[in-house]
Amino acid sequence: VIDIGALYSTTGAFTYDPGFTSTASCESAITFIDGDAGILLHRGYPIDQLAEHGDFLEVCYLLLYGELPTKAQKDDFDYRVTRHTMVHEQMSRFFTGFRRDAHPMAVMCGVVGALSAFYHDSTDISDPYQRMVASMRLIAKMPTIAAMAYKYHIGQPFIYPKNDLSFAANFLHMCFAVPCEEYKINPVLARAMERIFILHADHEQNASTSTVRLAGSSGANPFACIAAGIACLWGPAHGGANEAALNMLGEIGHVDHILEFIARAKDKNDPFRLMGFGHRVYKNYDPRAKIMQKTAHEVLGELGIKDDPLLDIAMELEKIALTDSYFIEKKLYPNVDFYSGITLKALGFPTTMFTVLFAVARTVGWIAQWKEMIEDPHQKIGRPRQLYTGATERDYVPIAKR
Ligand code: ACO
Repeated sequence: VIDIGALYSTTGAFTYDPGFTSTASCESAITFIDGDAGILLHRGYPIDQLAEHGDFLEVCYLLLYGELPTKAQKDDFDYRVTRHTMVHEQMSRFFTGFRRDAHPMAVMCGVVGALSAFYHDSTDISDPYQRMVASMRLIAKMPTIAAMAYKYHIGQPFIYPKNDLSFAANFLHMCFAVPCEEYKINPVLARAMERIFILHADHEQNASTSTVRLAGSSGANPFACIAAGIACLWGPAHGGANEAALNMLGEIGHVDHILEFIARAKDKNDPFRLMGFGHRVYKNYDPRAKIMQKTAHEVLGELGIKDDPLLDIAMELEKIALTDSYFIEKKLYPNVDFYSGITLKALGFPTTMFTVLFAVARTVGWIAQWKEMIEDPHQKIGRPRQLYTGATERDYVPIAKR
């Protein structure tokens, strides 16, 4: 009989770190977070500066290549991404295989995973050119696929990409234009969409990015890896939190009910949590939440929505929670998801699309991290260990004797 305890002593030492709260899984030069100070830098540039002055494809370039592009580099990059925005026409048939009421994230998992079947010329990850083409394809096609998922969901025909528009404007066009009707891009709303994409572009080794890295560490093709990231992002503790936060604000319903929900969040016998509050890394205000709050006001202002009850509830909830000893002691602050739901709803998206939009933006982060890993000469397949707690060795018993 194998002595499992003794086995541990012969297999070498390893750490037991559930949730990897204190384990660095890799080296990375892409994104820096100081959670205590509430700082987020991409390649050294503060997120607020990028969100204020940058455009999304400029941030994509920065994440992928480490520097902000020159004008010529930016033009070339924009051109390369833009020419990949279309998806194979056969891919549109994938959508019709899903029920109309399928969650668009379920559709995204399936359709993005299938991209590798369409683009055999960009699945050899040992070839830098193929890696680059796969990256461009994923960044470019994600908004198209996301918009197709949305259009299918609401029963409207697909709208093809319009490549003279910016990344964000094109996405709004594909989602909200209808055939035979002119659709005018509102520059304030397009800029807000751009900012939302920038804010979600990367966030170092979060659950979905770690999933992409883990999947990629086995040599899987990038399309499959991104599909794995989408699956992980779907959860309400991760990308699904903005949908959950908006649902929660709706459930609260009125500022008078806030205290009741705060009490529930503090009650250890109640599984309820304030969605959009708290973060594994930020023990201070999430810097993205501040920009998102400002963006929410800009969008509502532009649309002439003077009194949005959900925004009122959110702001009051934040005010109360930030002065409550439970939230202060546990360092629970609003995260990026707290205000993004309100903004996305005002832009016209149903809640089921929120996580999809997150996936569109995060694709570049996933790809940049995947690329960094593949290009690391010390890269190894990810293979965590475990603390075995099951039965010790025993003999098989025939079924008649059990
Ligand atoms: N409401 C009430 N209490 C909370 C909340 C919350 N939103 N978040 C954490 N806590 C409490 C926990 O109950 C726990 O209390 P305890 O120490 O008495 O047991 C303590 O704070 C620490 O919480 P953990 O879950 O251990 O912290 P962790 O770092 O693992 O979790 C997480 C971070 C998952 C984001 C958590 O704060 C949460 O569930 N928040 C709500 C969901 C959410 O907004 N997710 C979005 C994350 S951001 C993103 O993905 C873009």
